[in-house]
Amino acid sequence: MSLLEVTGVGKSFPGVKALEDMHLELQAGEVLGLVGENGAGKSTLMKLLSGIYEADAGTFAFNGAPYEPSSPKHALELGISIIHQEFNLMPDLTVAQNLFIGREPGRFFTSERALNARAAELIERLHLPLRPKQLAGDLTVAKQQMVEIGKALSYEPKLLIMDEPTAALNDAEVEVLHELIRRFVQPDTGVIYISHRMDELRRIADRITVIRDGRYVGTRNTAETTMPEVIAMMVGRELNMDAQPVGVRADREVVLEVEGLHTKDLLRDVSFDLRKGEILGFAGLMGAGRTEVARAVVGADRIDGGTIKLRGREIKVTNPADAARHRIGYLSEDRKRFGLLLEQEVGANIGLSALAERFQAWGFVKDAAMRATAADYVGRLRIKTPSVKQTTKHLSGGNQQKVVIAKWLVKDCDILIFDEPTRGIDVGAKEEIYRLLNDLAESGKSIIMISSELPEILRMSHRIVVMSEGRVTGTLDAGEATQEQVMHYATLRRSEVAA
Ligand SMILES: Nc1ncnc2c1ncn2[C@@H]1O[C@H](COP(=O)(O)OP(=O)(O)OP(=O)(O)O)[C@@H](O)[C@H]1O
Ligand SMILES: [Mg+2]
Repeated sequence: MSLLEVTGVGKSFPGVKALEDMHLELQAGEVLGLVGENGAGKSTLMKLLSGIYEADAGTFAFNGAPYEPSSPKHALELGISIIHQEFNLMPDLTVAQNLFIGREPGRFFTSERALNARAAELIERLHLPLRPKQLAGDLTVAKQQMVEIGKALSYEPKLLIMDEPTAALNDAEVEVLHELIRRFVQPDTGVIYISHRMDELRRIADRITVIRDGRYVGTRNTAETTMPEVIAMMVGRELNMDAQPVGVRADREVVLEVEGLHTKDLLRDVSFDLRKGEILGFAGLMGAGRTEVARAVVGADRIDGGTIKLRGREIKVTNPADAARHRIGYLSEDRKRFGLLLEQEVGANIGLSALAERFQAWGFVKDAAMRATAADYVGRLRIKTPSVKQTTKHLSGGNQQKVVIAKWLVKDCDILIFDEPTRGIDVGAKEEIYRLLNDLAESGKSIIMISSELPEILRMSHRIVVMSEGRVTGTLDAGEATQEQVMHYATLRRSEVAA
């Protein structure tokens, strides 16, 4: 029996046809994976299903009856709960308050105590790693995600839709989420699971539906298809997935030398060097201190000990702008907060930070030059947008990330630190980014790449620095490094590291 049927659905925005003649069918009792490139229309379809947008054409049927939600609240009443790509938590409210936000007190709960008790009940029933009284703003991204899930499931929906639920989760956290999904799926419920991570889809999805450029391409049984087939359906061509970094000679000049780095909170005696033309991978579990190293190097966090030398000379960097003057760039993992001006044009976002150096003459901004450069990068990174004048918030999640990457490429730094550069980015675009990183390295730039995806680290790095609990536990030559080796160093406890 089908739980949800989408027939001939269309949706346009000014200058963009986001969906056209879209089809989708979800059977009761299944997890349906939904995949497509950045900007393919996945989130738009989910927003139609949750009543945020209204379709221009086509129909939805849910449980055999016409389904026409007029608002997210209405969608919830009808039995469809959605966890969006962007979180909507209130950082100043507690977990319990966030879980039951928008539901009338009185009827639902009569006091703060009753609210906390209800939250505790829900948390226990779903086995969530949360406490009712924690402030949402203090939680890790993974736990915030769990609050979103708890909130969605508290409505006891028949259909649960998750838009890239694991983009910010590590492997163990993904497993917790998958367990939750497996417990949720019953003969009369279903899940739509959107993800760019193919290995995950293979584990959790019964069937996979592929869309491209707003149109339906096809559906496959997961057990009977291969991931290369799904990827080919997605990008409409065979992907060449073998970009490899060219070797870097060991006698290449050391451009950055970090020694004995120490911060109050986490880092202990972190040392490494970075050579010209090198891609240095940083591996480790979440919380190992990789982002902290990056933040310390660009002066975003205070250093309490240690030295940073740039081409042999010690530098004192006190803030990221300072780092940029030394031509060190940092692409942060938290792009929403630090990366983009969402209300500004795409062109301005790409060009603005390079403004002073490249597009300003006697106080006048060279608008045309800035736009032309932006357009060039929009093309190279295949950023899906009607023009560089589009307001950035209208771009899909993955395309917004590509804008951040373009922004740093334009700045022309000598040292670039990329923190999770391909998170939320589709497989095709990932390959483009790998190629770009290789080109940059080949042209003599030095790159630090922090990534939680081991295959990516192993494939792209010349050398790999592995961290655990704020320390460097190993530095490996990528040529001979294996996944097991990296994991070994990544899971070394402080007590096991020789002092
Ligand atoms: N409010 C809006 N105004 C203008 N264009 C929009 C709006 N919302 C979405 N779009 C455009 O519609 C297309 C589909 O976007 P959508 O967010 O659905 O993609 P997606 O498949 O979810 O991509 P991603 O994998 O990057 O999240 C994109 O080209 C996007 O820029
Ligand atoms: Mg999306």
